[in-house]
Amino acid sequence: MGFTEKQEGLVKESWEVLKQDIPHFSLRFFSLILEIAPGAKNMFSFLRESEEIPQNNPKLKAHAVKVFKMTCESAIQLREKGEVVVADTTLKYLGTVHVKSGVKDPHFEVVKEALLRTIEEAIGEEKWNEEMKNAWGEAYDQLAEAIKAEMKNHH
Ligand code: HEM
Repeated sequence: MGFTEKQEGLVKESWEVLKQDIPHFSLRFFSLILEIAPGAKNMFSFLRESEEIPQNNPKLKAHAVKVFKMTCESAIQLREKGEVVVADTTLKYLGTVHVKSGVKDPHFEVVKEALLRTIEEAIGEEKWNEEMKNAWGEAYDQLAEAIKAEMKNHH
């Protein structure tokens, strides 16, 4: 069975919740990434520079929003087209940036875990369920696969 309208709706709905407080959820997302993989700190320019996770850092927010938003866009594409299509230039850029920063395939699992936990906290335990987790998980996985495949062309 493909990605359903219901799954797309669940993703969109929770993205709306995240959007209401980007500074907070961006910070939470990065705290979770570092909690799961402390070593990831040194890959991010804005984390390397300071002891603590910087509050209100535009680059930190930009990365968090990109991950949230592009995963949401992937959900829409999965429902509409049955696959995730990232614009060619964007994908090339994503491949280069991540290879240059020292990102490796397993980091994508770390970010996935942090993403799912951030959304769970955002929408609350009562509303969070397997269905929502799977919808976000699938949209993220397909996007991550596209980026990882592109990264193989940039070593
Ligand atoms: C940079 C998106 C996963 C680490 C970027 C940029 C984008 C992006 C758009 C460029 C930011 C800019 O130019 O402002 C994404 C998306 C991801 C993803 C959509 C997953 C679906 C990851 C993962 C890691 C990672 C798994 C490693 C844990 C980085 C680093 C940079 C970067 C270190 C450079 C940022 C800096 O130092 O300023 N990413 N990313 N990303 N990404 Fe990702």
